[in-house]
Amino acid sequence: RMENGGGRGALIVLEGLDRSGKTSQCARLLSFLQGKGCLAEAWRFPDRETSVGKMISAYLANESQLDDRTIHLLFSANRWEKRNLMESKLLGGTTLVVDRYSYSGLAFSAAKGLEIEWCKAPEVGLLAPDLVIYLDVQPEKAAERGGYGGERYERVEFQKRVAEHYHSLRDSTWKVVDGSLPMETVQEQLRELAMNCISECQGKQLTNLTW
Ligand code: TYD
Repeated sequence: RMENGGGRGALIVLEGLDRSGKTSQCARLLSFLQGKGCLAEAWRFPDRETSVGKMISAYLANESQLDDRTIHLLFSANRWEKRNLMESKLLGGTTLVVDRYSYSGLAFSAAKGLEIEWCKAPEVGLLAPDLVIYLDVQPEKAAERGGYGGERYERVEFQKRVAEHYHSLRDSTWKVVDGSLPMETVQEQLRELAMNCISECQGKQLTNLTW
C-alpha cells in the first residue's frame, strides 16, 4: 500500500450545494485512493444511522418540524458523536473523505437567517479538515441536474443564499473546483488535490476548528 510512513491519515472534506456532484465524486475518489493502496474511508454528514441522525433525516424529509436553532444543534451533535472515532481513524493512518461537514452546518443554517457567530459556536473543537474541496456549481445548473425538490432545502432561492454563505466561509484550507466541468476532469483535479494533501499532512498535527 501507499507509503505514508506510518503517519496519520488526512481529513478531506467535500462541500457544495445540493446536486453539485459531491456524492459521486467522493465515491470515485475513495476507489481511486484505495486503488493506490491508501487506507481510506468515505464518510458523510449528516450520518443518518445514529439516533440523532434519524431525527435529522425525519426533519429533512418534512416528516417532523424543528426550530431552526434546534436542528442546527442536532447537525452539530451528529458531528460531535463521531469526533472520537474520526480522530482515532485519522491517527491510525486512515484518510477520511467526508461528504459535507461544519461548512454545510454554517452555510445552510445562516441561509435561514441565523447569525453566523451563533452557528459557529457549537462547531468549535471539532477536528479541522486538512483540505476542503468546494465543488462550485451555479444554483440554477444544480437544479437542472434533476433529483431536486425532494427534501426541505432543495429550492433554487434557498440554494443561492447557501452559496453566498459558503463563499464567505472560504479559508486557507479551501480549494474551489469548477463542478460544471466534465465529471472526469473534476475527478482528476480532486485526485491531485487529495494526493498532495495526504503527503503534506504527514508532518502536521491534527488540529481543532477554531473559527
Ligand atoms: P445530504 O445527506 O448530504 O443530502 P442528500 O440527501 O442530497 O445526499 O444532506 C442533507 C441536507 O442537509 C443538505 O441539504 C445539506 C443539509 N445540511 C445542513 O443543513 N447542515 C449540516 O450540518 C449538514 C451536514 C447538512
